[in-house]
Amino acid sequence: MKKIKVILLICFCLLLTGCQKEESAEAPREITIGFAQAGTESNWRKVQNQSITDELEKQNYQVMYRNSFSDPKQQFQDVMTFIAYQVDLIILSPIQENGWEPILEEAKEAKIPVIIVDRNIATNRSDLFLTHIGSSFKAQGGRAGLYVTNHFQKMEKEAIDVFEIKGTENTSPTRLRHDGFTETVGRDPRIQITQTITGDFIRLKAKEEFSKAIDAGKLEGIDVLYSHNDEMTLGALDALEEHKLENKFVIVSIDAQKEMIDLLKQRKINCVVECNPFMGELVANTVKRYFAGKTISEDIYVSDTVFSDQNSLSTIPPRNY
Ligand code: AHR
Repeated sequence: MKKIKVILLICFCLLLTGCQKEESAEAPREITIGFAQAGTESNWRKVQNQSITDELEKQNYQVMYRNSFSDPKQQFQDVMTFIAYQVDLIILSPIQENGWEPILEEAKEAKIPVIIVDRNIATNRSDLFLTHIGSSFKAQGGRAGLYVTNHFQKMEKEAIDVFEIKGTENTSPTRLRHDGFTETVGRDPRIQITQTITGDFIRLKAKEEFSKAIDAGKLEGIDVLYSHNDEMTLGALDALEEHKLENKFVIVSIDAQKEMIDLLKQRKINCVVECNPFMGELVANTVKRYFAGKTISEDIYVSDTVFSDQNSLSTIPPRNY
């Protein structure tokens, strides 16, 4: 009888540990997110980076972070490292548009979902990523163009010449900010882009290229300076100052960093189209929705605004970046 009691007790204990195992298998496992960041080229980027990492950490995700410092090949490798590590999900903030299909094929084969943030990638394969979260760069270019057309609308001027400072080639903001702008100013045939330089979204690079343009006399007859981001606008202003030249153009910039808003308030520039870097909450919520098995929209837009001397400047809220 005693023997039977002992056997029953052992069976009961085994049953209990079995149940415990079952319970722990159901407990939420640790989720690792690989975050492939493009670089550190602007204050805007630093804020976008912080916003995403902070919000992911708030939701208790383990973030595995790689920054490719504007080197596209390095970024391909960074994503391959995440795949090899078998992270649970990849957040990709790409530098360039091209070259991503084979890498994302690998991610798909490894059953690792990918969310693209900020810049986009060039592909027709919507099966290679879950969604894209970011601004509409074309709308930003359109808003910049709209400011210029409105500004000159009532002015009797035969030609309005635009100097464009482009961001890095083969990136979606550069392509679409150009397209959006040209499409909008196209309504007024007097407005033409007559000079273009590339500043790679970097202040120093834009300063160097703009200085060369000044030395080559390319600012002659220019009415508008349209720059694809604030850092490059600041670079152009640095070059003007170094050449002891007064700014005599209408200046339109994109991003809305604090320094540019301050210059707008001092009426030293005319218009800043915002590119909102605070996408972290949207990103973290999308990740959460994915792991909860909820549906996710194909494109998730971040909302942007426009600040210009055509509106009241005193109501612009203070900015901290
Ligand atoms: O991709 C977004 C752009 O990249 C921002 O406008 C710019 O500042 C950053 O470098």
